[in-house]
Amino acid sequence: MYNPYSLEGKTILITGASSGIGKSAAIECSKLGAKVIITARNKERLEKTFSALDGTGHSILLCDLIDFSEITKMVAKLPEIQGVINNAGYTEFAPVQFINEDVLQNMMGVNTIAPIIILRSLVKMKKLKKGASVVFTSSLSGLGRTSIGNTMYASTKGAISAFIQGAALELSAKGIRVNAVCPGMVETNILSNGTVSSEQIEEDKKIYPLKRYGRPEEVAWAMIYLLSDASLWTTGTNLIIDGGYSIR
Ligand SMILES: NC(=O)c1ccc[n+]([C@@H]2O[C@H](COP(=O)([O-])OP(=O)(O)OC[C@H]3O[C@@H](n4cnc5c(N)ncnc54)[C@H](OP(=O)(O)O)[C@@H]3O)[C@@H](O)[C@H]2O)c1
Repeated sequence: MYNPYSLEGKTILITGASSGIGKSAAIECSKLGAKVIITARNKERLEKTFSALDGTGHSILLCDLIDFSEITKMVAKLPEIQGVINNAGYTEFAPVQFINEDVLQNMMGVNTIAPIIILRSLVKMKKLKKGASVVFTSSLSGLGRTSIGNTMYASTKGAISAFIQGAALELSAKGIRVNAVCPGMVETNILSNGTVSSEQIEEDKKIYPLKRYGRPEEVAWAMIYLLSDASLWTTGTNLIIDGGYSIR
């Protein structure tokens, strides 16, 4: 059947696949024919994702991305792959005057340095097939649409949105495409750290022209576009998926 969005014959590494957007991306990629290699820290939750995958040939690799030596060990274990979703990440709120060095360093480590080291290691170890597609999960807040108390997170994502442009330019010579998705708020566990009340969340949803937050699979489908042959002429793009938030 004609389907330019098919992922048949592609093996895709997905970080942060134990919940939220990464979990949904793993399931949706498998439904479109990909073999997925899913990674995160929590084995039990990764196994739940694994049991929801379609088809066969998938695998799990545990890795704490704050430990950069673990990243290189994980990449060394990979077969040659056709795609990556560099998705793991988290946020913690703090007004500028209360920014803590350790928190900032950790967030930069997981959200910014780790995905860059993953791509560096994949390229250095020649693990990406010619024609491979690399997708990063940035954020609308990395494109200047942030909120009070969210500066650390916005910085970690702004760096990614800049990085993908340079990486796309460099890696085009190897036939590798590099893009990012930049979601607005998506219904996942990311806000379950108790810093935002449910009343604040309901008020915030009203600002969105489509009057709701996104669903994880709605971001996964954009990732699939970027991984598939449907986007063969797309590289260096920060793709906004935000229910219209940024056009207000
Ligand atoms: N939800 C939103 O509104 C939204 C909006 C824009 C962008 N994003 C971005 O989307 C991505 C996914 O977030 P989500 O909303 O799906 O959140 P989530 O449900 O909390 O998932 C975060 C994922 O990252 C993994 N992770 C966190 N720290 C890690 C570490 N040190 N090492 C390895 N894995 C780690 C977690 O796995 P373990 O805990 O098992 O390690 C989990 O699988 C993030 O990059 C986030 O910044 C989210």
